[in-house]
Amino acid sequence: MSGQRWLIATLGLAGIAGLMPTAHADLALATSKNCMACHTVDRKVIGPAFKDVAARYKDQKGAADMLATKIVKGGAGAWGPVPMPANTQVNEADAKKLAAWVLTLK
Ligand code: HEC
Repeated sequence: MSGQRWLIATLGLAGIAGLMPTAHADLALATSKNCMACHTVDRKVIGPAFKDVAARYKDQKGAADMLATKIVKGGAGAWGPVPMPANTQVNEADAKKLAAWVLTLK
C-alpha cells in the first residue's frame, strides 16, 4: 500500500514538472537577463506588463520576430514615452525565446 502511494506521488510530481518547465525556464531567463528589473508578468512597472504585451499582439503575425528585435535593440513609442534601452546582454536566440514566452502569457 505505501509502495503504491509513493508511486502515485512520484508520477504526480513528474506530471506537474512535465507541464511547467518552459514557463519556469523562461521566467528564469528573463530574470537572469535583467528584464524583470523593469517588467513584471502582470503589472506595469517601468515597462508594460508582459500579459498586456501578449494581449496586444495576440493576433498579429510576425509579432514574435518584431518583439525579439525590439528586445535586443530597444525602442520607444509603443507603450508610452519611456524607451526600453537596448539589451545587449541578450543574444538573438535568447531574444526569440523571451519574445515567444512573453506572447504565451495570459
Ligand atoms: C530599463 C528598463 C527595461 C529593461 C531592463 C527591459 N525593458 Fe522591456 N520595455 C521597457 C519599456 C519602458 C518598454 C516600453 C517601450 C515602448 O513604449 O515602446 C518596454 C517594452 C517591452 C516589450 C514590448 C515592446 C513593444 O514594441 O510592444 C517587450 C516584449 C519587452 N519590453 C521585453 C523585455 C525583455 C525580454 C527584457 C529583458 C531582456 C526587457 N524588456 C528589459 C523597459 C525595459
